[in-house]
Amino acid sequence: MNTIMATVKSCITEEEPSEALDVAADILKKGGLVAFPTETVYGLGGDALNTEASKKIYAAKGRPSDNPLIVHIAKEADLKRLAREIPDAAYRLADVFWPGPLTMIFQKQPAVPDSTTGGLDTVAVRMPSHPVAYELIRRSGILIAAPSANASGRPSPTLAAHVREDLDGRIDMILDGGDCRYGIESTIVDMTGEVPVVLRPGYITKEMLENVIGPVEMDAGVLSDRLHERPKAPGMKYTHYAPKATMYIVEGESPNSVIRCINRMVKERQAAGCRVGVLATRYNALAYEADEVIVIGDKEDTLMISAKLYRCLREFDTKDVDYIYAESFANTGLGTAIMNRLMKAAGHRVIQAPSI
Ligand code: TXA
Ligand code: MG
Repeated sequence: MNTIMATVKSCITEEEPSEALDVAADILKKGGLVAFPTETVYGLGGDALNTEASKKIYAAKGRPSDNPLIVHIAKEADLKRLAREIPDAAYRLADVFWPGPLTMIFQKQPAVPDSTTGGLDTVAVRMPSHPVAYELIRRSGILIAAPSANASGRPSPTLAAHVREDLDGRIDMILDGGDCRYGIESTIVDMTGEVPVVLRPGYITKEMLENVIGPVEMDAGVLSDRLHERPKAPGMKYTHYAPKATMYIVEGESPNSVIRCINRMVKERQAAGCRVGVLATRYNALAYEADEVIVIGDKEDTLMISAKLYRCLREFDTKDVDYIYAESFANTGLGTAIMNRLMKAAGHRVIQAPSI
């Protein structure tokens, strides 16, 4: 298959003509696949109500068929076409956070095919705020099922070039709208129980949700790999976001203890003939004595860290390192989402730096 690459202005409006968007909308209407930018990561879109189209998504990504897709809508009225038993709290969250990086899970309508929901009787719905995503849904008139546009198991794409790396020749079109503002996937909240539960942390934090609807729970699997705490979002159980090298997260009481610990491990690995990388925050970066040091941003600037995380992990793949040591981040606010993705990328390998 020849994948069409097209650049789109990331601030497209309803009135503007855009040939690329119209071509993309047409492909979707005919059951084809289009990768497009959203404010979180690039999505791989297909018609959510078309069984064949959603099957193609799984095939293109090499994704296990029990891992359900998120359906993207452009107007709240479309929620009812997908979901049943929508609680009042969901409308209040939608009022505040849609369009934006929030996905909610509901009981599904019969019209939503099993191939889209991975056989579940629930459906995940989100209204993206990225103008290109919005316009694509609007112009195609289609409810777009879209997982992240990476090959299954790889870090999610935050640039069109990442999508091309993974899916060129396997999908019909890639819309290039530049980089993604948040860089990690949407917050997922299960709205089907008594108390809403965060299944995947993201930019919209538990506290932000609670400010609108009161108590919200955090799924126990979010920062744990313990078997009895298996996450309820099926996709969260797979090895994920993984760079090619083996990665470790290093926690410590102080920056100096972390630096010392990492430098010691780097030396040991190098002595064994390995190439080693460090994922560092800005102020510590110069202190590392590794083969490759990639700076992710200022430790306090969690939006920058989340925006650059996957890009940095992909960059390590081009550096040919055998091991990556990563600093860790505070498990508060957006930090929870960052640590959730880092932990998965590292296969939950965490090292405690000795205190000094
Ligand atoms: O930000 C995002 O959400 C991006 C952009 C493209 O919108 N999409 C995304 O999709 O991250 P994906 O497929 O990579 O991740 C979807 C996650 C998976 O972990 C999946 O298991 C979970 O959502 N999910 C989908 N439907 C579900 C359902 N009915 N119940 C529980 N989890 C569900
Ligand atoms: Mg994904």
